[in-house]
Amino acid sequence: MKHIAIFASGTGSNALAIAQHFADSPVATVKIALSNRANAAVHDKMKLAGVPTVTFSREQWTQGDEILNVLRAYDIDLIVLAGFLSIIPESIINAYERRIINIHPSLLPRHGGPGMWGHHVHQAVIDAGDTQSGISIHYVTTEVDGGEIIFQASCPVMPDDTPDTLAERIHDLEHTHFPAVIEELLNTL
Ligand code: GAR
Repeated sequence: MKHIAIFASGTGSNALAIAQHFADSPVATVKIALSNRANAAVHDKMKLAGVPTVTFSREQWTQGDEILNVLRAYDIDLIVLAGFLSIIPESIINAYERRIINIHPSLLPRHGGPGMWGHHVHQAVIDAGDTQSGISIHYVTTEVDGGEIIFQASCPVMPDDTPDTLAERIHDLEHTHFPAVIEELLNTL
């Protein structure tokens, strides 16, 4: 049985989809969700799913040691970033090389990098006149959104899309594919 830790800062819809996918799984279980925001909706979502959450301060996220201690205490095999909007300390990236993955709401390398998250990404896609967008699941390295891509799926961008309508289509894609891609990856660990 593999152990997953989720890092999340926001709504937590992906975190919930992942926790539900693995709820009765013989492959893996979501042991804990770590956040940098005490009032993020992800805490309530994880409560629903029976997953404990813990919030760390900006200093703790910068320093990394206490977070590493938690990850080791739960014997974590894979860290999944699901809408996590803080930088991961290098000590964690090094300790979990190719065991940290992120989901990004565009077809990387388009519309990635610092400052590109959530609605900023969808606005950039619309502003660029792209007719396709999608999701990218990739390994996390020290380069923001720069790690090797594991999986991509695309969807159309409609002429009358707003960042909100595009986000909804992207979220559907994420919830469909992210848990399955995680399971496939865990089977190779
Ligand atoms: C997701 O669409 C995810 O791809 C995006 O934040 C959203 C979180 O939604 N992540 C990024 O933009 C990272 N650069 P959720 O909290 O409902 O899972």
